[in-house]
Amino acid sequence: MTTHEMLLRRMSAARTETDKLFQLVKPEALYDRPIPERHRFIFYMGHLEAFDWNLLQSRLPGLKTFDPSLDQLFAFGIDPVGAGLPTDTTAAWPAENRVTDYRDRIRSDMDAALIRSPAGWAGGESPATLLNAAIEHRLMHAETLAYMLHQLPYDRKRRESQVSVAEGRRDDAGGIQIPSGPAELGLARQDQKEFGWDNEFAPHSVHVPSFLIDRYKATNAQFLEFLEAGGYQEQSLWTPEGWDWKQRREILHPAFWKRVDGVWWYLAMFDEIPLPLEWPVYVSHAEASAYARWAGKRLPSEAEWQRAAYGTPDGTSRPYPWGSEAPRAQHGFFDFARWDPFPVHAYPETRSAFGVEGLAGSGWEWTSSAFEPFPGFLPFPFYESYSANFFDGMHPVMKGGSMRTDRSMLRPSFRNWFQPHYQYVYAGFRCAAC
Ligand code: AVJ
Ligand code: FE
Repeated sequence: MTTHEMLLRRMSAARTETDKLFQLVKPEALYDRPIPERHRFIFYMGHLEAFDWNLLQSRLPGLKTFDPSLDQLFAFGIDPVGAGLPTDTTAAWPAENRVTDYRDRIRSDMDAALIRSPAGWAGGESPATLLNAAIEHRLMHAETLAYMLHQLPYDRKRRESQVSVAEGRRDDAGGIQIPSGPAELGLARQDQKEFGWDNEFAPHSVHVPSFLIDRYKATNAQFLEFLEAGGYQEQSLWTPEGWDWKQRREILHPAFWKRVDGVWWYLAMFDEIPLPLEWPVYVSHAEASAYARWAGKRLPSEAEWQRAAYGTPDGTSRPYPWGSEAPRAQHGFFDFARWDPFPVHAYPETRSAFGVEGLAGSGWEWTSSAFEPFPGFLPFPFYESYSANFFDGMHPVMKGGSMRTDRSMLRPSFRNWFQPHYQYVYAGFRCAAC
């Protein structure tokens, strides 16, 4: 199979993944906005197609725009900011059949052009880079759509599966001392084999002094201790912005938790279950930081996380935390394998060279580092705002991956980011200390 054919296959698989998500939304919920900071489902249905179309239409021979108002309406999503929530009404959005017609027309026009050799594409970008961007953009939305579906009330979505709550092996949960040494960040530009977003370039090495990092992600049980110790009421544990947010929004617990008559429940994707104590806790960066301070620890920096995950005692780096073997099921939960996580101790095979477990999959991990350009950063000319709009010190970096992260994005250089007050991501943390 040629590279081009392989990319077309991946595009088709990515479409199947996002189509499945929209099928889980009951028809009457398509205009719902389950996360107040994000758009309605209907927007994303149009957005996924408009993005591909806006990216590829002018570069592929013979394609003509047929509905420029929808191309524009669906061009860009919104950054979940927390202040200034969107106020659009349902009536502001086109009817479902107009959006599905738009989707179907784009796919058939585009596929007819894509099937031909990419040699005649206009512009300076390599076709593989553009297609990879379209595929990964869609797959990232497959994850952010899952966050939205998660927050949709149970009676407004179709049940797809039942949650299973297996017990994990319990092990010494203490910290691991990582000796000082290099963290290898970024991706080599000349590495034609591998796609990376603009923010992943250029490669560089950072010296990381010795530090301690938790073997496992923080669990619901650990976070419950913090909550029961009054962590949400203790202002000194929070940054001024974190405290303000928590007070204003009356946040009293993680968004995935619910208390009924003094008993804690967990809102899994399709079921409400007793709080699974050994699952990773999913919280905002603000809550993660407050926990770390309460525990007398801190969040790891991006470089520390990178070294703990991919570094080795001899100073070299490996392509996955567990080594160089391609991801397999026992390496953790990613690649849309599950809708909910699993006990943090369940995957000893994922051990990094330093013995840290569960780093890639089962939930992103917040770091203490703000999303910033690497030295030598250049925005992608075909999508200038993709990263550059977020280098504002207000978007902490997340590393790792979740059950809803495609395996392609488990590469060491991939960087994710969100606002520190966004609670709905499959993201938790593990603590570090000096
Ligand atoms: C990289 C996941 C933070 O969802 O806001 C999707 C990805 N950018 N469409 C986001 C993205 C534009 C982005 N994250
Ligand atoms: Fe998008």
